[in-house]
Amino acid sequence: MIKFEHITKKYPNGFVAVDDVNFHIEEGEFIVLIGPSGCGKTTTMKMINGLIEATSGNIYVNGENIKNVNPYELRRKIGYVIQDIGLMPHMTIAENIAVVPKLLKWDKKKTEERSRELLELVGLSPDETMGKYPKQLSGGQKQRVGVARALAVDPPIMLMDEPFGALDPITREQLQDEFIRLQKKMKKTIVFVTHDMDEAIKFADRIVIMNKGKIVQIAKPLDILQKPSDSFVTDFIGSDNAFKQLSLVKVEEVMKTDNLLVSKNTTVAEVKQMLNAKVKEALVQDESGEVIGHIRASHFAKGTDNSSVGEICASYKVETFAEEPLKKALADMIEKGTSHAAVRDASGKFIGQLTMDCFQKVVNHLAEW
Ligand SMILES: Nc1ncnc2c1ncn2[C@@H]1O[C@H](COP(=O)(O)OP(=O)(O)OP(=O)(O)O)[C@@H](O)[C@H]1O
Ligand SMILES: [Mg+2]
Repeated sequence: MIKFEHITKKYPNGFVAVDDVNFHIEEGEFIVLIGPSGCGKTTTMKMINGLIEATSGNIYVNGENIKNVNPYELRRKIGYVIQDIGLMPHMTIAENIAVVPKLLKWDKKKTEERSRELLELVGLSPDETMGKYPKQLSGGQKQRVGVARALAVDPPIMLMDEPFGALDPITREQLQDEFIRLQKKMKKTIVFVTHDMDEAIKFADRIVIMNKGKIVQIAKPLDILQKPSDSFVTDFIGSDNAFKQLSLVKVEEVMKTDNLLVSKNTTVAEVKQMLNAKVKEALVQDESGEVIGHIRASHFAKGTDNSSVGEICASYKVETFAEEPLKKALADMIEKGTSHAAVRDASGKFIGQLTMDCFQKVVNHLAEW
């Protein structure tokens, strides 16, 4: 989809910002460019849509050398979220989103419908937002508008230059999660710039690590973490490499699903009979089959042999989702001081539980990977 062949960019003052870069991006791939400030990320990105011209080398988009493509045609196929968002201050949000549709001479109705659809897509209320000016929005809302604007004419390729930079960690994480859901539906080819390794790991099919205008390593996130190519990459990843790997394991990969299930009316005496050295706990269901908690020997003292397990079982203090990264689930469990979390699927159905035993599986899992 996008191919860089010996690309070098030398600025007029003689500074070489990008130095003989080669890579190939597949259709539908999510590529993250990462590296220290000034390493050439923005320059690399702007050469893809022709905003900066390479000094030497060739770039192919969809098999065509961009030197032979009308820049206006090229940019129609490439959505661009620029660093610092770049909304026009004197235009309303609706006008900002409509910049490219207007160039394409879309009629008013089609443009308005598309703007509404996009604002909803990025989690903003069209009625409340469209008539406002950028200065009336928060940083996070502006970032969302920036993403909506880049998606306006539904381009197959998106270039995103630190689109979630300069946000507080909570808003940032929220926007990242929403963007992951959005990308699952859109399946665009994305080139995304960040200097946050956690963000790169969260999104990337492959990560391109740059330093001083050169590519230092290009690989899948887990390969970068497990096999950094040199000391620059090791330093760049930082000291919590092992924990970063936990972000790449999903809860569903290690959750326990073969649990013993008992009705909440079962007595403690009956459950004692069912437990043994191998099966140390049971999950407790209500009349409708919904799992309401878990019970094991240490809970028995809360009642007598005649108590029903529904009265004394422990409820889940942490709810997690099948597709959630294990790192987040573990952090929630530590924060709440619990060894058990309920795992639910996208529809909210209980599908298993996460216990500290599952983390043993992770250790094996990562070693085998
Ligand atoms: N027009 C220019 N003339 C001369 N040098 C430039 C020009 N534009 C950028 N540079 C230099 O080229 C290098 C790469 O810039 P670039 O904007 O690509 O960095 P970046 O990796 O995106 O950094 P950041 O993370 O800070 O956004 C920097 O050292 C920058 O100072
Ligand atoms: Mg930049």
